[in-house]
Amino acid sequence: MAKNIAVLVSGGGTNLQALIDAQARGEIVNGQISAVIASTPEAYALERAAKAGISGYVVARKDYPSSQAMTVALVDKLHELNIDLVVLAGFMTILTGEMVQAYPNAILNIHPALIPSFAGPGCYGLHVHEKALAYGVKLSGATVHFVSEECDGGPIVLQKAVDVLPDDTPEVLQRRIMEQCEWKLLPQAVSLFCQDRLKVEGRVVRILPE
Ligand code: GRF
Repeated sequence: MAKNIAVLVSGGGTNLQALIDAQARGEIVNGQISAVIASTPEAYALERAAKAGISGYVVARKDYPSSQAMTVALVDKLHELNIDLVVLAGFMTILTGEMVQAYPNAILNIHPALIPSFAGPGCYGLHVHEKALAYGVKLSGATVHFVSEECDGGPIVLQKAVDVLPDDTPEVLQRRIMEQCEWKLLPQAVSLFCQDRLKVEGRVVRILPE
């Protein structure tokens, strides 16, 4: 049975687009993006979903009295849609423990740095690249990892590095990492998950052969 995938978004949705394009090329083996859930009705990602014929939903923090109530509503929605894999692709709302408990080792996140560098609370968006440039690293990249209760701390699935160049601005580095790392890694990781080829052993993820 093909796995049902939900992609959770907050913004532009270029990673969602990479998944949609990979699916159109037949590269998401044994998986189907069946829902896009946004944290705000303004997310451009919802338009990308609509164009691809994928159902879009909004679950917004402001409509609930607490983060926990919002997370529970989100989990209910995911269950109602029979979702097997949740992909966080630039989802900016904090989720509480109920989410990981409902989907243990079945939530993937993309982070725009080589974890454990430039990760954890406060490391999101352009801040990640500002910190990498300020530290003076010569390589940065992206990481796809399973989501655990520790922020950016779950088992690592795939990583890819790019050079940091002398004249990089945070925006230029961000773009290079998106194009060369994120948009490639996320579809690969999703496809591996859908084929049951990710075996989690403690914090280590083994990639099983086809
Ligand atoms: C990406 O940089 C991703 O690594 C981070 O949020 C950003 C989302 O961008 N988690 P987009 O909405 O996919 O364009």
